[in-house]
Amino acid sequence: MAHTRVFQVSGGGGPLVEARRPVAAPGPGDVLVRVRAVSLNARDLPIVEGRYARPVPRGRVPLSDGAGVVEAVGAGVTRWQVGDRVVGVFHPGWLYGALPGWDTLYGVQLDGWLAEQVVVGEHDLVAVPEHLSFEEAATLPCAALTAWSALAGTGPGDTVLLQGSGGVSLFACQFARLAGARVLITTSSPHKADQLLALGAEVVDTPAQARDLTGGVDLVVEMGGGGRSIAQSIAALAMGGRIALVGNLAAGGGMDLTAFLARAATLRTTTVGNRADFERMNRAISAHRLRPVIDRVFPFDQANDAVAHFRARTGVGKVVVSVPHRGEQRPAGFSGAAART
Ligand SMILES: NC(=O)c1ccc[n+]([C@@H]2O[C@H](COP(=O)([O-])OP(=O)(O)OC[C@H]3O[C@@H](n4cnc5c(N)ncnc54)[C@H](OP(=O)(O)O)[C@@H]3O)[C@@H](O)[C@H]2O)c1
Repeated sequence: MAHTRVFQVSGGGGPLVEARRPVAAPGPGDVLVRVRAVSLNARDLPIVEGRYARPVPRGRVPLSDGAGVVEAVGAGVTRWQVGDRVVGVFHPGWLYGALPGWDTLYGVQLDGWLAEQVVVGEHDLVAVPEHLSFEEAATLPCAALTAWSALAGTGPGDTVLLQGSGGVSLFACQFARLAGARVLITTSSPHKADQLLALGAEVVDTPAQARDLTGGVDLVVEMGGGGRSIAQSIAALAMGGRIALVGNLAAGGGMDLTAFLARAATLRTTTVGNRADFERMNRAISAHRLRPVIDRVFPFDQANDAVAHFRARTGVGKVVVSVPHRGEQRPAGFSGAAART
């Protein structure tokens, strides 16, 4: 039986461990994907470091977001052919409607994409937008779709406040600008300001400054959560404003619901998005030839360096691991061990 290389969690919070796993031919309804790139998200750090909110078994392959090429299809597969460029969905099995549950998370209950090959259900893949590289496509399943979902209902003339320059915020900035909205963004890292300005955002020091500049924002994409962060977001809202609750990076404290009521505000939780949302988002990405912002690309062998670089959060944009193609020294589009793309 053929084997594939993977990285798996050590179980004790230590570095990822490289291993070889047998690869079976895809079963009925399944697809074998030759992985070409994977990307990192905030959730991957606690998974790798052994402090995720749900149990992660030792030996689990982490990372939810990957793109590659269909290498073989099982019996009855109709959506894909060998050679198709595909990207995985974040929640396998969630095709449309409301989130059915939290039982199919990559890196938690299911092995993820930090592998040379993966076998996934044919319904848990979407096509890569034609103009994107594998490295760019691998950034879409979690961060981009979360931003897309958080911005639902945003249009020309709206003002949107983003917190921090993380992966979700950067996509939210790009999509909000695409929709014709004014974007304001806070960052704790002043050296990132120039890159945020280049994306069309106005950099502000505080939510209060955003309120003063705009008379109140229509939407806050909330990354902090926690009492103080969300209280500041509520105070920055215009009448009828909305908060899309995405992150809980500043966890702790209570929430002032009185102020929330006084703004006649809406709070909506985001859980990434379903496959139908993903396909709609990709249509917008294709129509506008939008390109994800990538900070650095690491080769597969240096997966642990990619995790360390992502943990430091010194750069602007997604951190990607490029997976070598069999027989290739370097995958197409790969431009160096620590290249900016
Ligand atoms: N609900 C969902 O569907 C969903 C989906 C994806 C992610 N999330 C959550 O969303 C959050 C961001 O995810 P990500 O992948 O974009 O993370 P990321 O790429 O790791 O972003 C980290 C950045 O967030 C900013 N930040 C850190 N602490 C903050 C705080 N207390 N308040 C505001 N901003 C803060 C910092 O930006 P600066 O350096 O510019 O200050 C930091 O560099 C995480 O909590 C993640 O778990 C939720």
